[in-house]
Amino acid sequence: MTDASLHANPQGPASTRRDFLFVATGAFAAVGTAAAIWPLISQMSPDAQTIAAGAAFDVDISAVAPGQQISVLWRGHPVFIVNRPAAALATLKEAALIANLRDPDSSVLQQPPYARNWHRSIDPQWLVLVGVCTHLGCIPIFEPNKDQQGPGWPGGYFCPCHGSKYDLAGRVYQNVPAPYNLPVPPYRIVNAKTLRVGENPPGETFSIDEVTQL
Ligand code: FES
Repeated sequence: MTDASLHANPQGPASTRRDFLFVATGAFAAVGTAAAIWPLISQMSPDAQTIAAGAAFDVDISAVAPGQQISVLWRGHPVFIVNRPAAALATLKEAALIANLRDPDSSVLQQPPYARNWHRSIDPQWLVLVGVCTHLGCIPIFEPNKDQQGPGWPGGYFCPCHGSKYDLAGRVYQNVPAPYNLPVPPYRIVNAKTLRVGENPPGETFSIDEVTQL
């Protein structure tokens, strides 16, 4: 399938599935510069207009290296997908970090029931977040490396607008403007290669409209 065949509206601005995988936003230092990972929106997914309207779509996660984050666009919001290495997961259980979090147990409804756990995800390896700061809606920056945000920083997200901070599970720090953890959208892991954004696992009924704040 060519790019041209992916255009949603040949009369208007080119709108392709690539528009929904809009940037490789970062990586752990060990990963280095993000490799070209464009062909990630599955050709089995709906067309661009349907995705823009909120349909679920598949992302090929097989090319996302350990430590790397990609962003896709869903319902007009960035969705971060991170391949978390074991070292990143280990930080989530550090007592010093947990003591600094506002809602370490995800007690506020900011995620589906299947992501209300210590790693806020279905599979600990794969973090999936709506990348919208719960203060006033800026897009937090992925800063996954130790000390990247100052001494003692275990890795996480920093919102440049007013200084809110989140950990590598999207849990918000205390004493920052953002009141809630980053939302987790409905999603499912179809197989080792495919993550479907916008659709729950079988038997689950979560809607992103249920979250306390997006
Ligand atoms: Fe993120 Fe204000 S919008 S800190």
